[in-house]
Amino acid sequence: MYDRHRILDLLRRAKPAHTLPQPFYRDADLYEFDVSAVFTRSWLLLGFEAELPEPGSYLSVAIGPHPVILVRGRDEMIRGFHNVCRHRGSQICAQASGRLTRIVCPYHKWTYDLEGRLVGAARMPEGLNFVEHGLLPIRIELLEGCIYGALTPAAPAFAPFREAAAPFLRPYRLASAKLAHQSVLIEKANWKLVMENARECYHCAAWHPELKVSFPVVFGAGFAVTDGSRSAAFVSSMGELGLPVGPVAGPWWHVGRYPLNPGAETVSMNGRAVVPQRLLETNGTCVGGLRWATDPNTFCHAVADYAFMFAAIPTGPEETRVVSKWLVPKEAREGVDFSVDDLTEVWSRTNLQDRELAENNQRGINGFGYRPGPYADSAEELVIRFNDWYRATAAQAAEQG
Ligand code: FES
Ligand SMILES: [Fe+2]
Repeated sequence: MYDRHRILDLLRRAKPAHTLPQPFYRDADLYEFDVSAVFTRSWLLLGFEAELPEPGSYLSVAIGPHPVILVRGRDEMIRGFHNVCRHRGSQICAQASGRLTRIVCPYHKWTYDLEGRLVGAARMPEGLNFVEHGLLPIRIELLEGCIYGALTPAAPAFAPFREAAAPFLRPYRLASAKLAHQSVLIEKANWKLVMENARECYHCAAWHPELKVSFPVVFGAGFAVTDGSRSAAFVSSMGELGLPVGPVAGPWWHVGRYPLNPGAETVSMNGRAVVPQRLLETNGTCVGGLRWATDPNTFCHAVADYAFMFAAIPTGPEETRVVSKWLVPKEAREGVDFSVDDLTEVWSRTNLQDRELAENNQRGINGFGYRPGPYADSAEELVIRFNDWYRATAAQAAEQG
């Protein structure tokens, strides 16, 4: 168990706009604190409605040691539950996804319906109260096809994020998209190093030769491309199409549209579209990309023809599971309209390059010579936001015990 007084003391020693003291990146008790106190106080992007296409479709995910399951019910509603049996606590669904008609614990076969109610418990005494032994729910919010979940009531209000992000997301038709591909990378680095790297493009010009073909890797503060006249022209042309640019931000979220490099239609190896059908319902060829990011652990980019999600899930003090997903229009046929290799190549290569950076960062931070260092206020603005969010959320969690 972590010692919250030690964590509060470490937080007091953390300097604003600087990397954190070493224990935050490598100590086992800080990892336990992060997954049990910080992640459970946060809204997590757990998946997409497109991954639960019909009643009985489910997804199971583990947030550190906390397994949860998302299920589409017979009434089409998506619900979330702790993936923990109410008999003796076995994890119920071991597969990452699938379809079922009942939720059956593998251990002694206690059986729950798709709405989480206990409906079968053979050989239990007569008086067992079925109503009191349903699966424990988690909070779920659907936002334009994205499924956000929170494990405890301590997560902040969702409504401000919904109100701000929905107008940006709505034209992308994510609720009627389909999952084209997903990948998992195990990175030997603390999740905060993975996210700090994911929150800046200071390193992008040197490290991401494929990404920088189409993606403007030099951003200033406010997620604006540094070429001011191009930025102004982009804002005005998006205004004509009725697409908001932003950015808009709250304590744990940031949403904004950006122009791609001149002539690029999408993020791909050559900047040309990789899916002929459009995800974005608005016309226009140079509509840039939409980025939405939520703390603690995700960012997404939607371009005209596909959407990409990146989620970093802590699995140990120095290990993170990076899940990537690509969504395309439902009508796009794999192998006919698009190839998964073409669709995924830029972000897959970028992920491998970023893994090397995060693991190398971990190796240096583990050394005796590590001292917290300063962030650049413009090039690392979004890392500073992440660091501010983490210190505030961690302090609140540690104070509340
Ligand atoms: S632990 Fe699930 S049925 Fe016994
Ligand atoms: Fe990167």
